[in-house]
This record gives sequence, structure tokens and C-alpha cells, in this order.
Amino acid sequence: MGTEFITKFYRLLKGATLYDRKSVVIDRLTEECLQVVNGIIQWEGRFLLRIVRDHFFFNDIRITASADKYPVFKAFLQEMRKRRIGGMKFSEGASGEHLTDLAYLLSGLEENHENNYLAVRNQLEHRNIKSIEVEKLEVSKDEEIDIDSEGQKKYSREVYFRSVGLAKEVAESIHQQKPLPIRKAKRLIQNAANAVMQDDSTLLGLANIKNYDEYAFNHSVNVAIYAMALGQRIGIPKKHLSHLGMAGLFHDIGKAKIPEEILNKTERLSLGERSIMRAHPVIGAELIMRMTEWGELSARMTEGAFEHHLRYDLTGYPRLAQKKKVTLFGRIVSIADFYDALARPRGTLRFPYVSEKILEIMLERRGKDFDPGIVKVFINMIGAFPLGTLALLNTHEMGIVTRIQEDTELLDRPEVCLIYYGDGEYRKGKVVDLGERDGVSGDFKRSIVKTVDPNEYNINVAEFFL
Ligand SMILES: [Fe+2]
Ligand SMILES: [Fe+2]
Repeated sequence: MGTEFITKFYRLLKGATLYDRKSVVIDRLTEECLQVVNGIIQWEGRFLLRIVRDHFFFNDIRITASADKYPVFKAFLQEMRKRRIGGMKFSEGASGEHLTDLAYLLSGLEENHENNYLAVRNQLEHRNIKSIEVEKLEVSKDEEIDIDSEGQKKYSREVYFRSVGLAKEVAESIHQQKPLPIRKAKRLIQNAANAVMQDDSTLLGLANIKNYDEYAFNHSVNVAIYAMALGQRIGIPKKHLSHLGMAGLFHDIGKAKIPEEILNKTERLSLGERSIMRAHPVIGAELIMRMTEWGELSARMTEGAFEHHLRYDLTGYPRLAQKKKVTLFGRIVSIADFYDALARPRGTLRFPYVSEKILEIMLERRGKDFDPGIVKVFINMIGAFPLGTLALLNTHEMGIVTRIQEDTELLDRPEVCLIYYGDGEYRKGKVVDLGERDGVSGDFKRSIVKTVDPNEYNINVAEFFL
């Protein structure tokens, strides 16, 4: 019931930012939310939702999100934190009107005002609403709260490109037999993990844009990002998320020992060459195991390197003498690696697979190549139209996907940044939410008709995305 409430209330809150109060959409969202609230009050007698750090307590019992609800929980948490509201209490007599009032009051609050809860209380009192109360968000000193989305984007972008630089440095260190920049890697990946936890959309977007020059380094970083974003959704604790990132970043480290001619060969590899290539997981694991100073981290990273070409059913390579289940980190890294490897542009041979196709393959091979539960979470995370997709809309507008909806029901209705052609070039227009409906008819305002290749239009997606 707590999960239901969070989902429905989040929709209503979001609706309040999009629609006029009188709109049919708001009526519907309110009604749905009210049903849940009334159900809870009938059952429990009262309903108190409280936020403590990253956790939700529902009548003093902690509730956790299932993987498919995780994005909604997180988005709701952020909305509440931004407004410094830490709790809501409903008692008997709450009407739809009251709920709508609350949603509009909350959506109208300014960000990061400590006294927001007082403003809402005053307004509720003023409107004589006694069945709803709000509480202040208690923040402990070590918590960072100021989430400024522009600053966050900039930070994520910096972390991304610095990580690519680092991946390059790691490969060079191996070639020159110099010590690896371990501390730096740990620090950077810790930063990346923090960025993922705050809002992973910029990092995921950067990982999705595949038109980089030196792809091998981007690949390592992308795998680290996909792995961490995925890990977060399946509930891997904060502390271990950066370990997962390190496992992702170093998964192909063994390739640094494979001769360039084989690595870069565009024609089909011979049998001998292929077996050399296939040694990279073992070589990688050995390289990592030699770094004894990494402690616990070394074990986790070894899993990523050694297991990332092993399949869920233990086929793949390296061949195991003793059948042992693939570790959680191994299963995550292999999913991240598979997706990124197939989506990357190969200058030669053929076009990269489109995302839709790759996800289809992955879904098909769940239970065989991939952990069935985790692969589903991954597919939802990438979405029907991944971040950075260029799409044509039924309104004859064109836009770039800039955010995947938290609400899994709206996976095919992302947020897009419209672009238009003017004065000889493409320009950034406004950001629209494809989940938005017409306030009168209740129909969706815009829908994606098809996706198009940005190269065809000479559009540099990254420019619009960032
Ligand atoms: Fe690999
Ligand atoms: Fe790889």
C-alpha cells in the first residue's frame, strides 16, 4: 500500500506541475490517489509517511522499493527533499479536494527553503484542512541536500570525461609497465557512484552516445556506468556501488596485453587469434590479483574481469573446470558489457545494432546468457527510447530524448528536448514531457512516430543533450 501511495502521489505531484487544476487529468490522478489513501486509512486507521535519509517509513515500518518501482521512489524522494518536506500524515476525512490542494501547495514550493513545511501548514490551516499534516525534513549534517540539476549535470559530465582519460592512463601504464593510478581510479569512481546516486540520467546519456573516437576507453567507462546504475536499481548498497564501478571500469583490462593487430583487426579472426583474444578475462583477472594492496576490492574486480564473458548458464568463456555460479558482480558486468559492445559503432563491417534490437536479443536470451531478473531491470533502465535518441513526433516536431520516465507505465513516453531548424542550423527548443496529456480531452499531446539516425540530419546529439 505504501508503494501504491508513493506511485500515485508522485503522479499527482508531477501532474500539478503540468496541468491546470481544473483539468480532467488532475481529476483522474486525484481520484486514483484518494482511493489508495482511503484504503490505507480504513485498514490502518492512520497514515503517516516519513522520510529519514534515503528511506521511507510507512506508519513507522520501513518500506523498500521493488526494482521496477525504484525510479519512482527515488524521484519522489528527490522531489520531497528538494522541498524539505519530510513527512505527510493523513487522517479520516481527507477528500479529493484536499489532496489536490496538497499537491499544488507542494509543487508550488521553492527549492531548499527550510521553512517550507510551515508555509504548507499555514495554507492547510487557512483552508481549514485538518485531515492532512506535513512535517519538516530532518537533515543530518553529513547529508548533502542542495540538488541543483544544472550543477549536477556539469559534475556528471566532468566525471565522465575524466574517467575516460583515466581509462586511457590505465592502459598506458600497463603498456609501459608502470604502476597503475589506483587511488585516482578509486576516487573518480567514487565520484561517479555519487553522481549515479543523485541522478544517473546525464551519465547514462553520455554512455548512450556512441560517437566517440577512441571507443575502447569509453567502453570501459560506459560499462562502469551501466553497472552502477543497474546495481543501484537492484538495491546494491551505496558502499558497494563504487566497487561495482571499479569492476566495470577494469573488466577488459586484460585486453591491454593482447597484441594490437588482433585487437584492431577488422576482418574475421583466425582460430588462433580468437583463442588469444579469448584469454583476456583470465589475463585481466591475473593482472588484478597481482595488485594485492586493493584488498576486498580486488576480489570484486576480479569477478568483473574473469566472468564478464561467462554466461548465466556458464557457457561462454573462459571454460570452467568446476561449475560455479556466476557472481552477482559478474552477472551485472556481463549485461552492461554486452549492451555497450553491441551498441558501439564499428567503423568497419556493419552498423551498430539499434538499442531496441539489442534489448530484444537480451530479453530473448534471459535465463540462458543473462540473469533473467537483472536483465529485465536493465531493459527498463534503458527504456524503449534510450537517452539521446533522436525522435520524430506526431506533431511533426523533432526531439532528443533527455529523460526516461520514472513511471514504468510511461516507458515509451520520455521527456524530449525539441529541436528546430533555423538560420542554417539546428537549435535547442523547449523540453516537453511526452507523458503530458491534453487538459481537456485527456489524450496525449505528443507521441513518438519513429526514431531517426542523428547522422542523417547531421545532428550532434551530445550538444543538445548536455
Ligand atoms: Fe571483454
Ligand atoms: Fe568489454
